[in-house]
Amino acid sequence: MSSRDHLLTNGSADRYRSLLVQGIDRVAARVAATDRPFTGVSPEKLALEVSDVDLDRPLGDAAAVLDELEDVYLRDAVYFHHPRYLAHLNCPVVIPALLGEAVLTAINSSMDTWDQSAGGTLIERRLIEWTADRLGLGPLADGVFTSGGTQSNLQAMLLAREEVGPGRKRILASAAGHFSVQKSAKLLGLGPDAVVLIETGDDRRMSPAALSRELIRCREHGDSVMAVVATAGTTDFGTIDPLPEIADRCAAHGVWLHVDAAYGCGLLVSPTRRHLLAGIHRADSVTVDYHKSFFQPVSSSALLVRDGRTLRHATYHADYLNPERMVEQRIPNQVDKSLQTTRRFDALKLWMTLRIMGPDAIGALFDEVVDRAAEAYHLLAEDPRFEVVTRSQLSTVVFRYRPLDPALADGANLYAREALAASGAAVVAGTTVDGHQFLKFTLLNPETSGADIEHVIELIAEHAVSYVERRQCAPTTSSASVWARTTSALPA
Ligand SMILES: Cc1ncc(COP(=O)(O)O)c(C=O)c1O
Repeated sequence: MSSRDHLLTNGSADRYRSLLVQGIDRVAARVAATDRPFTGVSPEKLALEVSDVDLDRPLGDAAAVLDELEDVYLRDAVYFHHPRYLAHLNCPVVIPALLGEAVLTAINSSMDTWDQSAGGTLIERRLIEWTADRLGLGPLADGVFTSGGTQSNLQAMLLAREEVGPGRKRILASAAGHFSVQKSAKLLGLGPDAVVLIETGDDRRMSPAALSRELIRCREHGDSVMAVVATAGTTDFGTIDPLPEIADRCAAHGVWLHVDAAYGCGLLVSPTRRHLLAGIHRADSVTVDYHKSFFQPVSSSALLVRDGRTLRHATYHADYLNPERMVEQRIPNQVDKSLQTTRRFDALKLWMTLRIMGPDAIGALFDEVVDRAAEAYHLLAEDPRFEVVTRSQLSTVVFRYRPLDPALADGANLYAREALAASGAAVVAGTTVDGHQFLKFTLLNPETSGADIEHVIELIAEHAVSYVERRQCAPTTSSASVWARTTSALPA
């Protein structure tokens, strides 16, 4: 076969069809046969498999390469569709979106200009309009698809910075907000103290009183607050900042309100919980990650703004691509609104999802995981072996095993998490709360049952107990060396 035969062209449509079907068959077989979310493979072992591949000697045959892929990737991948994957904000994906993915990647439209996308630009615009309507952002709203919540937050901070007057810039964000806010500040050249973290109450939601105090303090010091960032769905606690109270304070101080709804955006389609986003319509900008709570494949995210004109801060004209005359000629393009130039047509996945399933069906899936998280919360709150931090409004639960000796708590929880992942029986996340190690369930899979959760809780307790017992046998060993010893003793 010549090199040219590998190109997707008029003449190779049949080969394209048969090659992709082979790949889909492999994935379908893997997905169907997955009996645990992870094999527990170590980075060292997998690194050997990957480095053994000679990239200068192609195998030529797709079946052979798919066999090789089993070894370097498929066998040991982390499978988010498995009901005992309970770790991060990764969702199982809906099949209509995968249909969209297959189409968009083969056609390979680029979303920068009309002459590279045509209908793609219009479809993305319809979805932005649809999302802005759901948010209630008003008639001037606009937005753009992005690569993820991090980029959406960065662009929001760029627009806010360009809209604010002179003075030392400050961003006020909840202490439970996402680190991409700090990263954005750094990328925008703001100083290390530009982001001021506003304390949260015991419910892990931003305290409006603390926000008021900081807004007044900034005014008195002549600091220019370029944005308040509220979070609708904190990554750890699944809590939603009190948006109406925060919006009142932003309005009183004339400050840009950005709502990071990367996680909570699924509530926009929830048949029962839309009210949890009350007040979001008052935001100047909103981040939504369809690849979290809309069950879309990575990447699929958007930034929405109340006043579409603010997107001009990302506009540069290039004669070869988007000359100014195109604006006069009313030729639509998205590059004028985006931080990216060449950009995937990710919007198609959401389009196919809405056209095949409809929004209520997506919202119903999200509702299910929120219900399941409530069950998990009750299970843990009623179990004397555990403590739970707070009740999530979405689908996380942050908790920890409580050994009789509190000094062993951090080690026991760290160990339990690692041991669980190494066994492959389940994957849970870890985080720290007030300086202590906790565990976290993030539930985004409606297939996860109450029985799965009970099972994982028991496994965590077993691992934690085994840590405590070993620790009690070696009371003089420092916790760091016990940690090293126990992790190295984990099953491979
Ligand atoms: C609240 C919140 N904002 C932003 C992000 C970043 O999103 P992404 O990973 O899509 O860049 C996350 C990721 O978990 C998040 O939870």
